Amino acid sequence: MDANTVFKGLEGVIVSETKVGFVDGEAGRLVYRGFNIEELVQHSSYEEVSFLLINGHLPTASELKSYRDVIMKSSSLPSEVIDLIWAHSNKYPTSLLRTAVSLLGANDTRADHITDSDQKEIGVELVGKVPALVSSIRRAAEGGKYVKPSPDLSLAGNMLYQSTGKKPDKSSERIMDVCLMLHADHGSNASTFSSLVTISSLSDIYSALTSAIGTLKGPLHGGANEMALKLIMEVGKPENVEEVIGGKLEKKEKIMGFGHRVYKVYDPRARILKGFAREVTARNGKGQLFDTAQKIEDVMISKLGTKGIFPNVDFYSGMVYDSLGFHPDMFTSLFAASRTSGWVARSLEYVSDNKLFRPRSSYVGERGPLAYIPIEKRN
Ligand code: CMC
Repeated sequence: MDANTVFKGLEGVIVSETKVGFVDGEAGRLVYRGFNIEELVQHSSYEEVSFLLINGHLPTASELKSYRDVIMKSSSLPSEVIDLIWAHSNKYPTSLLRTAVSLLGANDTRADHITDSDQKEIGVELVGKVPALVSSIRRAAEGGKYVKPSPDLSLAGNMLYQSTGKKPDKSSERIMDVCLMLHADHGSNASTFSSLVTISSLSDIYSALTSAIGTLKGPLHGGANEMALKLIMEVGKPENVEEVIGGKLEKKEKIMGFGHRVYKVYDPRARILKGFAREVTARNGKGQLFDTAQKIEDVMISKLGTKGIFPNVDFYSGMVYDSLGFHPDMFTSLFAASRTSGWVARSLEYVSDNKLFRPRSSYVGERGPLAYIPIEKRN
């Protein structure tokens, strides 16, 4: 292979070893520390799953209790961050979230001379803090006052409580919990890779998360869920699908919520979310939305299934978040709230056997040497 071979988008390049999670793109399996995602969704909770990702084993009862205590304490936000969120309540939620995490880091003196144990302690706190930030961003946007977390609720329950001021029913709390588990980790995706690049310079974990949130924001990554729901709404009813989707494909437009760099079969997360989407849309009288999505899926698979294009996690998550009362603007931040545990787990793992990321580019520009032209002689 030529030393200057370029792997665009690092496709196919292995950058690290990990024990955190495994995406089997051929078999359509997602594994966290050896457990299939379906097994965890059926029996576990986001608190347990985030502990598992960060610590490498399922918690004992006493470990879970101490972990929950830290999460609970961390989901109370400091006043300077509450002030920031309420002063900028009209801003795009993911941008505000990125800034809020950065402010938390600027105010934490541990981050100035960071040690390994500080990194882990802060990382676990962020598993509680980021969901609380996301909920408060929604609360502020809807004109409510800051809500303190309630000790009798799970992290998922508190996300709904801190965003609405109302204690959620069991079914909504469960759906939120499942969404958190499903989005917690997913291989060397763009935002996770961003967090690794940042931590590899021995920067602090707040900076790693700030980089990751900025990367997640793009429509080719975490921003796709918001656009997928908007597309389903724009199509409106199953009868319009052939024309609208066919037209977009003819113009070579990407259909958001479809395709994946790793999965060449049905994304297992999409399969689970689809079941919830069917259930909640039927309950909320939005069955037509689900039928439209189903028809889009059918048309996409019939046209592009042979290329390995199937629904990904973002196609059905929007409908589920919508049923929990979240505005589409919030969807990417919700993704960030759960992916925090994956970012933290993988950043801690990487830095424990660190190597600074420093790839090269193949220079294809003018090699010169050119003679300098004074400004008055340029045209
Ligand atoms: N709609 C229509 N055509 C598609 C789509 C799509 N969503 N995705 C891929 N294709 C086609 C693409 O046009 C190309 O066709 P051709 O070979 O004729 O040029 C072929 O499939 C390969 O596509 P690619 O973009 O080169 O593949 P990739 O591995 O770089 O792309 C992707 C992966 C996720 C960026 C892409 O599928 C995409 O843009 N999807 C829409 C955005 C989206 O839903 N993103 C969320 C990803 S899942 C959440 C996460 O883990 O971040």
